[in-house]
Parts: sequence; C-alpha cells; structure tokens
Amino acid sequence: MTGHNQPLRILLLGKYGQLGWELHRTLSPLGEITALDYPEIDLSNPERARRCVQAVQPDIIVNASAYTAVDRAESEPELAAAINATTPGVLAEEAVAQRAALIHYSTDYVFDGSLNRPYTEEDLPNPLGVYGQSKLEGEQAIQRVSGSYLILRTSWVYSLRRDSFVTKVLSWSRQGSTLRVVTDQISNPTWARMLAETTSLLLMQAGSDNLDWFQDVTGLYHLAGSGYSSRMEWAQAILRYDPDPDGQTIREILPSITADFPTLARRPLFSALNCDHFTRTFGLRLPDWETALMLAMSEIKPS
Ligand SMILES: NC(=O)c1ccc[n+]([C@@H]2O[C@H](COP(=O)([O-])OP(=O)(O)OC[C@H]3O[C@@H](n4cnc5c(N)ncnc54)[C@H](OP(=O)(O)O)[C@@H]3O)[C@@H](O)[C@H]2O)c1
Repeated sequence: MTGHNQPLRILLLGKYGQLGWELHRTLSPLGEITALDYPEIDLSNPERARRCVQAVQPDIIVNASAYTAVDRAESEPELAAAINATTPGVLAEEAVAQRAALIHYSTDYVFDGSLNRPYTEEDLPNPLGVYGQSKLEGEQAIQRVSGSYLILRTSWVYSLRRDSFVTKVLSWSRQGSTLRVVTDQISNPTWARMLAETTSLLLMQAGSDNLDWFQDVTGLYHLAGSGYSSRMEWAQAILRYDPDPDGQTIREILPSITADFPTLARRPLFSALNCDHFTRTFGLRLPDWETALMLAMSEIKPS
C-alpha cells in the first residue's frame, strides 16, 4: 500500500468491457491506472495474470474481465473456469502478496431463480449453468485466500457502447412490427456507468489508509439497480425512453415466456438482488433501474 503522498496504483482488468470501459474513466482521477484487456493480458492463463500483477505492483486490483458468453460457456467449461474461477483466485493470492486489495464482480446467475423475493447474500447459490458455476467458483476462490477484497454481485449489466439488451431492443424495434419479449425473467437492470461510479466512490471512502478500510469491510455484497423488472417491462421502458421514437417500426410487444426461446444455458427466472447490505455498509445505492435507464438513454442523439 502506498503512503499518504503516493498516488494509488490501480490495476484495471477488462478495460474494453461494458463495465471496464466505464471504470477506466471513473477510476482515472483516483491514482495511477494501468488498464489492460485481452490480448495484453489473458485471464485464461493464470500464471501470466500473476506475473502481470507482480510487474504492476498495484495497491488495488479491479477485475472487470470475465468470460460472459452464457450460452457458449456450456461448450467451453474449462475456458470459463480458468477465466472466471482460477485466475480470480490467483489475483487474490497476488493481492495478498503485494499488500493490495481486490475488487471483483460476480453475478445473479449464481442463483437458481426459484425464490419469490430478492436474493440476499445469505441465500444459497445454486447455479443452473456453466457460466454461473464458474462465477461462483471465482467467488469461492477469492474468499478462500482470505485477503482484502470486495466481491460485488451484480445483475443485468448494460451499456450503450457494446451489444447489450438495451442496444438489441433498440435495433429490434426498427426491424419489424412486433417483438416478443419474455415476462418470466425478472432481475435488476444495472447501468454499467452507475456501477463504475459507485466503485470509485468506494475507493474514495477507502482514502489513503485503504488496506485498513478494506480489511474492515471485506466481503461479498449485492450491488445492482434498485427495484426490479421483467425483461418485458425493461423492453417497454427502453422504447419509452428512445429519443428517436419515429425510427421505430414496432407496433406491439407480445408477451412470451422463457420456454418459448430454447437456449443452450438455462437461466434463473427470478434473480433480483437485495442490495440492503451494501447500502447499510457504505451508505450508497444505485438509483432505481428506470431512472438510470432514462439517464443512460438521454445520451443518445436523435438521428
Ligand atoms: N453483462 C451482464 O449482464 C452481467 C450480469 C451480472 C454480472 N456481470 C459481471 O460483471 C462483470 C463485468 O461484466 P461486463 O458485462 O462488463 O462484461 P463484458 O462486457 O463481457 O466484458 C468483459 C471483458 O473481459 C474480457 N475478457 C474475456 N476473456 C478474457 C481473457 N481471456 N483475458 C482477458 N480479458 C478477457 C472481454 O474481452 P472480449 O470482449 O474480447 O471477450 C471484455 O473486454 C463480470 O464479472 C460479469 O461476470 C455481468
């Protein structure tokens, strides 16, 4: 850890991802940032990742890299496990060796979605697919090392920069007169920028004695957009906040169910996260998902 006058050394992994791209911006004022992504760093190679941390000697590692292709993971379980489980464990080990802290993100897909209330950190995970299983193993690998870490479990992350549910709905809305969207998948839409900004506010709270601060708050937290919605309600809101509604050809959104769209991976149906523990601990919360969506979409220029 650096002293009071030394800039914080931050190692950001996944700088081209939805979240990582936003983190690169929000973390930059906080210190000296080394931001990497594939192929500069390959998280499928844990020992290469270890050497990278040793070379950078960071005070904080922020890992926004992940294997996030939920369906493809079913046929690439070893690759998903290396990136999402083995390497995060190695990052945690190297964080301890460097007296650094680790911020890592996980997913609502660690749950099976069979509850009828939002999941808390005490609820037992039971992933339905390879992706969720690999992310759960990543959480456990970090926890086993017992260093200073924050695991932030989030849900339904979107950005307007990369393909996401929001950009897909906008594109589908210009391709036909009807759109079928499922009503039985429910969770918290989370704008990547809000997640990144909140991560930076955490580092602000950590201040210059950040390792002590991390030791006090080390653990796993749920952090996602407040409230929850079905995919259908989310799609309706996206069309409502579309700054160019005249460009839409769509006339109707038809309700559908998950069973109508067979996919390689099973997905949890009700995987909303209860984020009260995060708010009680840090005094921060993400705004309700619809307000965040409205703010995100107000950035799009009508064509
Ligand atoms: N997206 C969601 O809905 C969602 C929901 C819940 C939790 N999360 C979690 O939130 C975090 C951020 O997700 P995100 O949506 O920002 O993910 P993302 O957009 O898919 O970004 C992940 C980044 O990791 C990179 N990456 C993949 N394989 C790599 C490798 N072998 N070595 C180095 N980098 C590699 C990706 O590069 P390429 O693009 O080249 O593959 C990409 O830049 C992840 O931990 C994810 O599990 C996401």
